[in-house]
This record gives sequence, C-alpha cells and structure tokens, in this order.
Amino acid sequence: MMVIAAKMVRGKKVEIVSLLILVIVMAATAATVTYDHRALVIDGKRKILISGSIHYPRSTPEMWPDLIQKSKDGGLDVIETYVFWNGHEPEKNKYNFEGRYDLVKFVKLAAKAGLYVHLRIGPYACAEWNYGGFPVWLHFVPGIKFRTDNEPFKAEMQRFTAKIVDLMKQEKLYASQGGPIILSQIENEYGNIDSAYGAAGKSYMKWSASMALSLDTGVPWNMCQQGDAPDPIINTCNGFYCDQFTPNSNNKPKMWTENWSGWFLGFGEPTPYRPVEDLAFAVARFFQRGGTFQNYYMYHGGTNFERTSGGPLISTSYDYDAPIDEYGLLRQPKWGHLRDLHKAIKLCEDALIATDPEITSLGSNLEAAVYKTSSGSCAAFLANIGTQSDATVTFNGKSYRLPAWSVSILPDCKNVAFNTAKINSATESTAFARQSLKPDGGSSAELGSQWSHIKEPIGISEADALVKPGLLEQINTTADKSDFLWYSLRMDIKGDETFLDEGSKAVLHIQSIGQVVYAFINGKLAGSGNDRTNISLDIPINLVTGKNTIDLLSVTVGLANYGAFFDIIGAGITGPVSLNSAKTGSSMDLSSHQWTYQVGLKGEDTGLGSGDSSEWVSNSPLPTNQPLVWYKTTFDAPSGSEPVAIDFTGTGKGIAWVNGQSIGRYWPTSIARTDGCVGSCNYRGTYRNDKCLKNCGKPSQTLYHVPRSWIKPSGNTLVLLEEMGGDPTKISFATKHTGSNLCLKVSESHPAPVDTWTSDSKFSNRTSPAVLSLKCPVSTQVISSIRFASFGTPTGSCGSFSHGRCNSARSLSVVQKACVGSRSCKVEVSTRVFGEPCHGVVKSLAVEAVCA
Ligand code: GAL
Repeated sequence: MMVIAAKMVRGKKVEIVSLLILVIVMAATAATVTYDHRALVIDGKRKILISGSIHYPRSTPEMWPDLIQKSKDGGLDVIETYVFWNGHEPEKNKYNFEGRYDLVKFVKLAAKAGLYVHLRIGPYACAEWNYGGFPVWLHFVPGIKFRTDNEPFKAEMQRFTAKIVDLMKQEKLYASQGGPIILSQIENEYGNIDSAYGAAGKSYMKWSASMALSLDTGVPWNMCQQGDAPDPIINTCNGFYCDQFTPNSNNKPKMWTENWSGWFLGFGEPTPYRPVEDLAFAVARFFQRGGTFQNYYMYHGGTNFERTSGGPLISTSYDYDAPIDEYGLLRQPKWGHLRDLHKAIKLCEDALIATDPEITSLGSNLEAAVYKTSSGSCAAFLANIGTQSDATVTFNGKSYRLPAWSVSILPDCKNVAFNTAKINSATESTAFARQSLKPDGGSSAELGSQWSHIKEPIGISEADALVKPGLLEQINTTADKSDFLWYSLRMDIKGDETFLDEGSKAVLHIQSIGQVVYAFINGKLAGSGNDRTNISLDIPINLVTGKNTIDLLSVTVGLANYGAFFDIIGAGITGPVSLNSAKTGSSMDLSSHQWTYQVGLKGEDTGLGSGDSSEWVSNSPLPTNQPLVWYKTTFDAPSGSEPVAIDFTGTGKGIAWVNGQSIGRYWPTSIARTDGCVGSCNYRGTYRNDKCLKNCGKPSQTLYHVPRSWIKPSGNTLVLLEEMGGDPTKISFATKHTGSNLCLKVSESHPAPVDTWTSDSKFSNRTSPAVLSLKCPVSTQVISSIRFASFGTPTGSCGSFSHGRCNSARSLSVVQKACVGSRSCKVEVSTRVFGEPCHGVVKSLAVEAVCA
C-alpha cells in the first residue's frame, strides 16, 4: 500500500513538472506581435520582413517542404497566402481541409522551417482564382449581395472567417500562441472598388474591420489597398512599386503586401515577365523610402488545377514569372539576385529599424536615403531613378557610379554591398526533355497507340434536362457544377421556309457573354467561337425539311474574380439567338423559344475522369479531330524524379485527369495575340503588366504540370475530355530539368558578392574586387566545360555571347583552370588575374559553362 501511494505521489510530481516545462516552453515561444510607425514589432523588436506568396492549393503537400525551404534559402522571413473559401467549403457546411487544402499542415510546415506566416483570410481573395475564392453556393443564398452591407453576406463571411480563425487558434498557430502567424488580412483591395457600392460599401468595410478585430487573434490585421482602413487595422499597399505609399496613420508601418513579381497568364494572351533588375529596384526603393515589410506576389505561383482558375480565361499555369517557377524549380538569376538583395537589406536592418530615413537629392533623379542611429550604425540607399543614363554621384565625399534605374545599398554608408542592376547570380537554363512512355504490361508500344475512347452525346442526353422558355444565364443555371451547359432547340421546318434556300444558307446568329460556344446543327459541329465576355457568331448552316436540332454548348473558362459586382457578371448565351436568311434578309428570333437545358456532360456525371467505366472502346480505329470525345490511355512514370508535364500539342481544348485527379483545363489551340511582344525588354523605366511580353502568336500554354506525387511507377491512367477535336496520340510527356548551362557576365564595377560581406569588414573601408562565381545547381554535377569566356568587352547575352574588340588572351584558360572539374568556382574579375587587355575601359568577364 505504502509503495503504491509513494508511486502515485511521484507520478503526480512528474506530471506537474512536465506541465511546468510545457508552460515555460510555450511562454518562451509565444510571441507578442504589435506594430508602430516603423515596423511590425515582434517580442518588442522591430523587424525587417521579407515575405513571399505561395498559395497552398496551387501545389501539392509533397511539394510544400521544398518550396518552403527554397523560400527560406532565398531569404524570406514570411510566407503569405490567401485562404481559399471555395476549396475549404465546396458545399455549405461541408468542409475540406485535406490534401492540397490542408491549411494547417501548410502553416505548420512554414513554422517548422522557421518562417512566419501572413494569413490573408479575406475571405474574398481575387487571386485569379475561380469566383475570387467565393463558393458559388454563396450566390444562391436568398437575398445575398456580395461585399456590401448585406446581412446574409455578412453572416456567411463572418461564419467562415471565424471558422478559419478558430481552426488556427485550436492548432495554436497564431504567434500569440507560439505559432507562426504574425498577421491576418481581412477583405482584399476593397478600396479599389468600394465607391461602386456607395455608402453601403463604406459601412461594410467598417463592419469587416470590427468583425475581424472581434475574433481576437492576438496579432494585427491588415487591409490592402484600403486607404481608410480603420484603426488599428494596418492599410497596406499592392502594386509594382510602393515606395511612394504612406499608411493612413503615423502609428502604422509602411507595408507592401503584393509586389507583383511578374504577372498572370491568360488563354489567348502572350506570356508576361518582369525583369529582376526592375523587381529588385522596386524592392530597394521601398526600403530606401521607409518600408519594412515587403511581399512578393507570387514567390511561387504554381498551377490552377481542376477548375480553380479564375476568369474569364485565366490559364492553368499560374507561373507568374515568380522566383520559383511553376514546377518548383528556381528561376535564375531571378531567385539568386533577390536572395542577394535580401542579404544586403538585412545587413542594414539595425539602422533601418532604428529610425526614419533622411532623404536628400543628389541631383536630378538622384536620391540618397540615410538611416543613422545614435549608436553609430549607418545604412544608405543611393538611387538613380533616371531611365536613360548612368550617373556618378558624390555621397559623403566618395564617388559612386549609379546605373540608370538602379539602387545601390551601402550597409555601412560607405561601401556598396549590392546594386539592383548588377547581377552576380548566374542564369541557369531549364529545359523540358521529351519522354516517350511505354504503357504497363511490358508492351513496347509507345504512349498513344493504346488509346480507348467514349463519345460524348451531342445535345441533351440526360433525363433530368430542364425545359424553359428563353435563354438562361449560365452560372445561375449550372451553379458552376460544370464548365458546360447545353442549350438545345428542336424545330420543325416546313419545305417552303426561307431558311431552306437552295444555294444560300441560313445563318445562325449567336450572342454569348462567354467564354466558348460550339454550335451543332443536327448533331454536326457547324461553328464555334470564344471570347472573354462577348461572343458574336454568324454561322452559315444547313437545315433540312422536317425536324432539326440546334444544340449550343456553352463553356465557361474560369469565373470572374475581380471588379465591383464581378459575382453577377454571369456567363453563357444570353442572346439574341436568331436564324437569318442570307437571301431574303428575313430573320427569326429564337431567343424566347422553349429551350432544353442540360448542366454538364454525361461523361462528367458518370465520372469518366476516373477512368473506370466499362464503356471505353479500344478495338475500333480511334476517332480523332472530332468534338466531344473522351480519351483514355495508360502510362508508366517518366524516369527520374524531375517534375513532369504533358505537352498537349495536337489536341484542341478540354480537361485532363491523371489517376482521377484533374490537372486542369488544357487549351493548346488558344493562340496568344500577335502584338505587344518585345524582343528584349528594357528593365529601365516604370513596369506595367503589358510591358514585357513574350510568346506572341504562339499557343499561350502547351505544357501542363502533373505533380510527381500523382503518378505511380506504372499503370497510370490519363483521361482527356476533348471538347473541340484533336488527336490525343500526338501528346507527349516531358520532364523539366534544371541547370546544364550556367551563364553570367560580371563587370569590374560589380559589387563583390554580398556573401563576402561579413560583419567584421562592415566598418572597414572595403575595396573587394568583383568576383564571378558559378555553382552547378545539382549536387552531383561538376562544371565539365567552359563554352565561352572573355575578359574584356564581350557582347551579347546568355546563349549568344561573343568576343568584343577587347579580350584577354588568358580568358578561357583562367576560367577553365578555376572551374572545370568542380561543382563551384570563383574567379576574380580584374586585370590582376587576366592581365590588361585594354586600358581605360571598364571590362567584364562573361562565362558560359556546362554542368554534367
Ligand atoms: C491584385 C489582387 C490579387 C491578384 C493580383 C493580380 O489586385 O489583390 O489577388 O489578383 O491583383 O495577380
């Protein structure tokens, strides 16, 4: 008895001690987050924070750890993400926090990597995401009006916002509980459009603010692009530049929640990109002018899987020209140059957080900002905002050369650690390698020879079709359960009608507000068209005496996600639809006839995307270039571990599934407009989303990401719903490889690599020479050869360097000696190493190396 009692007492003691330890650990990790005029303040200390957006459902949980690690290695402190309401609550009160929607896991992974999180709950997101992130069922809540002072809307918004906050609290994910979330956002850019909602918009905005505050997260809230965000909500800036932004109170820090690292792609559009020299310039200008929190939108853009892309016509790729590409590979030199920038900014942190900058003019378009502390730290930013010419400025008695549209960062107010226009990071090539895949079963046939198919019926095939007079708006009819809505009409034509004129055909006129229409007459495709919001078709057709069917298939490509009242823009064939006689000019309006409607396709209803059906036909010749055919094949995993893509060239438009998972809409026949592209984009001068475009006149997107984790070693199923007509045997697999070519040009006037800046040297007068450094991205690779090396005045850019008039004869041998056989190498860019090939000229070293 005594022994047992003693044990129990000891047990209790252990329990109490461990409880105490737990409390101490928790207290040690729980952080207070506040803010003041300068910065977010974490545990009493102001912070310079570099943040990047990664939207968790745009990649897979298997990709998250690597993306987060690459973000950390790139110098990020914070991961910013929206919360995607329609992903989490696809049906009212039915929640999904699994798989790509496992928000808790995502936030915990960021925490595990030592990063903070900015959670933009919204719950309106925008984000080129279907319906801006709103679940479409919300549209059908009686009496609802979105984003305004409307009780049904506010009730739903509050319920979801509270749900997310509660979930985060339960999992102890707020910094106030020891978690990584240091900031949450309510609404999104409402200030851009609130005037359209009048006085009700203002009261809704105020209500949103107080509703958010009432949820008591223990960390600050922000509203972006909301100049009148009420205290204590921080109003933040979104844009390509935010250096001119000032928050609406002197007690709030200057924060930038979306610095667009590129821009999104649309079907039918050329591909936008943003040069890193300009992006770095924008960031440096922001910190020069007092900013302390900056977020890249996007740092990894990823993929709009399934039907998640917004619209109209947002592409499946959401690559965004971000520092980490769609497939999770580093985009170089973008990622590397920004990493160097972040290091340079962090070298200035002590001075930056201590005080406001003192800004002085150094001449026209030339500006210095100095952060000087009482304890003797000093950091300076020198900017040349001119777009035309480089300039020499005198600062603190020393002379500095500033390239046009650039900022130099001087962490000690003396020496340049970084200049936004001088890149020390190599360009790494990435390339897709074609893979021909053998289906399982040991057959030697290649992918493509073993396709089976099912024909989707043209027109109404389901018993529960809807008959209504007049033309129905599409989203109200489909509730976005599918991209597809059939509008079908049967009509009897008597032999004497004008629409049967011999020789001159009848013309079917169709008006639709988007985004794609196919017109079938008596089961045959007669014409089609597509447009963002206005399709106007005049299709010559053949009608027959007696019964005719007109089946119009209207297809949405992502629901609108931006603008005042975007939720009620609608889609589909809103009319008029009419028959016109080319010969007599007479016209018959069909708009108010009895139309039969079918939401979605039969194959969608029977779940053909999964591949399991007994109806697949494999023993007949494969029908190709016919509309509305489902195709299926099997394939083995592409070899290696690199990311996988399918090249859909040869097909028309549709949706694809791999092992039952939708990889999104494919549309390789959507061709980018031919105008607006520039051969090479001048980074100098104000960037706009249409300033730097490539790929004009080519398909907007041919390659579609298939996450590795969705593919098994063998026996994978690929299903295509081909709506337009194409040849699936033409599609191919590819894997994306990184880095067999490295390429870099560094001038004598480049700052030494920022890595070589140590705190020891911080206050000494440094005269470190420029260094060209190369490193093979894959750890098992070494530099196997040098394709090009020239110290002198080499011309051209990566891939097309050539020798200039001045060239050191030693160039190649010096670089070969330093680099070949090693994974990485450093070569000093100076006459000390290369000799003097030409006096009185600033020389550069250009190198192209091959890793193997
Ligand atoms: C912003 C919006 C983001 C995204 C971005 C463009 O206006 O807040 O969600 O849509 O534009 O990519």
